[in-house]
Amino acid sequence: MRKKIVAGNWKMNTTLQEGVALAKEVNEALKDATPKCDVVIAVPFTHLASINAVIDQNKLGLGAENCADHKSGAYTGEVSAPMVASTGATYVILGHSERRQYYGETSEILKEKVALALENNLTPIFCIGEVLEERENGTYHDVVKKQIEEALFNLSAEDFGKIILAYEPVWAIGTGKTATDEQAEDMHAYIRSVIADRYGKEVAENTSILYGGSCKPSNAAQLFAKPDVDGGLIGGASLDAASFMGIVNAF
Ligand code: 13P
Repeated sequence: MRKKIVAGNWKMNTTLQEGVALAKEVNEALKDATPKCDVVIAVPFTHLASINAVIDQNKLGLGAENCADHKSGAYTGEVSAPMVASTGATYVILGHSERRQYYGETSEILKEKVALALENNLTPIFCIGEVLEERENGTYHDVVKKQIEEALFNLSAEDFGKIILAYEPVWAIGTGKTATDEQAEDMHAYIRSVIADRYGKEVAENTSILYGGSCKPSNAAQLFAKPDVDGGLIGGASLDAASFMGIVNAF
């Protein structure tokens, strides 16, 4: 049975002090709760070690928002997968559309990052999704298929089984314009069929596919009710503990 997951992506928000306070608040809210999903927060690199020290990772998983495509060496300013793992984090978001768009991350680069993440026992939350033009011109299925094929289909079935996917239509990110539950389900079911064609039905059925893009407490339950939507990757609404918990409790 695949896991249900709600993961927060804090992006480039919060100072260290604000971030530690927010993590503590979420951790506290989860202490006596029995959510029907795994809960994860992905936070800035600078916050990882400090947050690891104040949360119970049995209740609240911790991840980075990116890692380098090299293991170590002369790459000024980069943070490697082994460095992320050494903080106590166990997840890493890879391939977010903001990384693809603003930092030129290609499938070739992402392939390296995925390999390094897996080598260091980090669970990749791998993001895919089309831009508005591709939604409107009807190529969105092909675009998403290509993103998955190019960056992930070199993996063995065993390694692919360690990946969490996040479908994030770029036109829905930070815009307040959520995909409808039908649009999300259509794409998630399609993604699962693409995985089944490559790795077989069992691997496909066991892959968690999260939805991301203007997900909030008011629309989460409807999205999560769809059979192929296994949870959410939450941006803006993860920066407020009550909103984030509202989405967690949508399950
Ligand atoms: P928003 O929830 O702010 O739309 O962001 C979604 C996202 O990009 C999560 O990775």
